Amino acid sequence: MTSTEGLEDAYGAPAFKKFPIALVRGKGSLVWDSGGKEYVDFMSGIGVAIVGHCNDAVIEAVRVQSERLITCHGSFYNDARAGFMERLMKVSPKGLGKALLTNTGTESVEAAIKLARRHTSRKKIVSMKGGFHGKTYGSLSATWNKKYRDPFGPLLEGFDFAEYGDPESLAQLVDGDTAAVIAEPIQGEAGIIVPPADYLRQVREICDQKGALLILDEIQSGLGRTGRMWASGHFGVTPDIMTVSKGLGGGLPIGAAVATDEVAGSLKGGEHTSTFAGNPLSCAAGSATLDFITQNDLPSKARAKGDAMKAALNKIASAHRLVKEVRGLGMMLGMQTRVDILSQLQSAQAKGVIFAYSGRDTFRFLPALVMEETQISRGMEVLESVIGEAEAGRF
Ligand SMILES: Cc1ncc(COP(=O)(O)O)c(C=O)c1O
Repeated sequence: MTSTEGLEDAYGAPAFKKFPIALVRGKGSLVWDSGGKEYVDFMSGIGVAIVGHCNDAVIEAVRVQSERLITCHGSFYNDARAGFMERLMKVSPKGLGKALLTNTGTESVEAAIKLARRHTSRKKIVSMKGGFHGKTYGSLSATWNKKYRDPFGPLLEGFDFAEYGDPESLAQLVDGDTAAVIAEPIQGEAGIIVPPADYLRQVREICDQKGALLILDEIQSGLGRTGRMWASGHFGVTPDIMTVSKGLGGGLPIGAAVATDEVAGSLKGGEHTSTFAGNPLSCAAGSATLDFITQNDLPSKARAKGDAMKAALNKIASAHRLVKEVRGLGMMLGMQTRVDILSQLQSAQAKGVIFAYSGRDTFRFLPALVMEETQISRGMEVLESVIGEAEAGRF
């Protein structure tokens, strides 16, 4: 049993449902498997490879930093960390001035929840039906899907869920003991759900009236993916705390809870630290990633390419009864169908294209923002062919 697949199956806990493919190399929007087969990657590690796989600027930054200093505990200052924080603050929404660095998305949400409780001295967190914030206990308590929650109770106390997109439902749940409301500006895992245009402003108002903080989870929607640096920008809303991760390190693990000075300042030294948080290697990769995003104006590129991709998806939708709806903004797109799409995902892989999914029936498209037009076209052709196959079997 020496194949990659055999070794992982033999020695890894079965935490992930796996496709029978071992990916061993990547560049830009392409990845290759152990047999040398090439794939166009619309999944990007679920939205991680924003600047493309093995981006040259990230490789160089990691190479240089790995020869200087790889680890440096947060109790000492470090130049790579300082430079990264400065860049992150420059691109963050106005009013958010301090970062609590983490290693992953779920940790960023944990940090946000702790900051909110610490700052307000209140207990309750209101989250959204359909919301996804991670799988550790705090973030899991704010995550809606019972499949992730039920086997692991009891979860944290004090969490409620409002209807996403319905301010009335939220207003009924937020009161004088609510520390924060947490929401994705566009729900990812739920199937790429864009809320009504004025919804997030109403959420902000409800929070302000009740003295609760607003946490916006931009872990999937941030860093230019939706055609703006932050999806909250589409709705004209600034949160008190923003969570970010996924693409932030150009593929290396890093995340942050970015907060107002006031909220971040509630934390006392030592109350929330982590050994690897702010490690120089991830920070150097993060700086290279943020420079690449801003110097190449990736948000604008994501808007233009995303619009073209959405038009192609709508064209496919209008030609196929199997497709229910196309949704999303920029390069954060979804196509809901009327069937379980697992065999379509596998058929697309056989044809050299990798798509992600949300739930069982929705294709999720989170490509690198540097994906080339010819690669988008190749993906759309394969998508239409696998939808045609499913339709032939059904209608
Ligand atoms: C909106 C959102 N929040 C949080 C997370 C959790 O991030 P991680 O998987 O890095 O823990 C994800 C991951 O998909 C996400 O999409």
